[in-house]
Amino acid sequence: MKTSLITVAYIAASALFILSLGGLSQQTTARRGNLYGIVGMLIALAATAAAMNPSGWPILGGVLIVGALIGATLAARVQMTSMPELVAILHSFVGLAAVLVGFGTYLGDSSIPQSELLVHHIEIYLGVVIGSITFTGSVIAFLKLRGSISGKPFLLPGRHLINLLMLIVTVVLGVMFVMAPGTDGSTYLIAATVLTGVLGIHFIMAIGGADMPVVVSMLNSYSGWAAAAAGFMLSNDLLIITGALVGSSGAILSYIMCKGMNRSFVSVMLGGFGTEGGSVAASAAGEPAGEVRSVDAATTADILKQAKKVIIVPGYGLAVAQAQHSLAEVVKILKEGGTEVKFAIHPVAGRLPGHMNVLLAEANIPYDIVFEMDEINDEFPSTDVAWVIGANDIVNPSALDDPASPIAGMPVLHVWEARDTIVMKRSMASGYAGVDNPLFYKDNTLMLFGDAKKVVDEILTAMRG
Ligand code: TAP
Repeated sequence: MKTSLITVAYIAASALFILSLGGLSQQTTARRGNLYGIVGMLIALAATAAAMNPSGWPILGGVLIVGALIGATLAARVQMTSMPELVAILHSFVGLAAVLVGFGTYLGDSSIPQSELLVHHIEIYLGVVIGSITFTGSVIAFLKLRGSISGKPFLLPGRHLINLLMLIVTVVLGVMFVMAPGTDGSTYLIAATVLTGVLGIHFIMAIGGADMPVVVSMLNSYSGWAAAAAGFMLSNDLLIITGALVGSSGAILSYIMCKGMNRSFVSVMLGGFGTEGGSVAASAAGEPAGEVRSVDAATTADILKQAKKVIIVPGYGLAVAQAQHSLAEVVKILKEGGTEVKFAIHPVAGRLPGHMNVLLAEANIPYDIVFEMDEINDEFPSTDVAWVIGANDIVNPSALDDPASPIAGMPVLHVWEARDTIVMKRSMASGYAGVDNPLFYKDNTLMLFGDAKKVVDEILTAMRG
């Protein structure tokens, strides 16, 4: 009876996790999606507690309380722009858990029938090596994203050969481990853990800061597969399902991000691309020639008020400046004045998937005026003002017309096709990809320099005055 109830609980939790992923795919249903996830996790925890020996409840309760307190404090304090590093360190915990479960299962459980031992040992080995790569790789990704170590790719000569050799030795150790009788394979398992730990460090050190969010998403996928492997070790169906959901959704997300940046997944993993960004950089063809026309906040307020249609393109700078609330006020005034206002969201605007959508939702900007790039890109020619706020790479025309540009081929928002384009940023500095932007020198572009929050506030004051 108890076993069937636990199975039912596991099925219910799995269904809720799937519904949660479905809900999170759209802004309008994201809250509901989160709620499904929370309820699913509560059911999973209750079922796990019910399945275990009651003598372990005090320990389980203790670690749950400590974990929940640390998690809640971190989640409440984290800035949206620091979310990738929080996610990275959380993945390292999943990796470490898979390693510990692997060792615990290998050394502790002797009740496995001989016929299942080979498969069981393969499960343990896979869980431990994927977990170890995920653990050390995630710690390095966390340190790079935090700026504790340089974001520049660290490239050893012959690094691909080194990686290949480490992989071959891992496979050889794996064969020796599964062939070893009883628990005699411990030495091989320890050696493989250390080796794959070093592999994780070396692998991620070679990847530049610009590709780090894709790497975090890839490590998310690894952590899912590590959890699924732990699920096989523990014969826990819920852990297998949850791990597979995380593993596959992380892989899909990495693919979407690579597509949005026009980078191949393999080239990201091979490393070597991307610097720390944010410098004034020249394109491969040299400094673009031309004059920059700047404008002040009061004139911008006039231009916006007189426009019939405005498309706002938010980018990373909007998130840094936290200008979304003032911007929502400006949008309200424009709409009341009869101007049609829409938002255009690039798939990799900001620093993490959905970054801009979350910012706009925080400021209660209605969902029905927020559009994805593909939905709105054709509307710029019929737009009076394209207003770019703290965005750079995602509106860079050289992605389309300069084959030598490092971002050549990246899909971008065609803001220059509007009658006027107003670009708001603090300086002429480049964006994340470190490339110059010819948009700033176009005849119909006006540059409005300053911190996005300060300048939007000035526009707001001018509009109200
Ligand atoms: P960026 O190209 O990084 O440009 C942001 C611009 O904001 C900078 O040029 C900066 O110029 C300006 N800025 C910074 N702080 C500001 C402030 N306080 N006020 C006003 N402006 C400010 O950002 P983007 O256009 O959003 O493009 C995203 C980039 O990140 C792409 O290259 C993308 O490939 C990469 N990326 C994104 C993701 C995801 S999933 N979103 C993942 C990996 C990589 P100033 O310094 O002159 O102010």
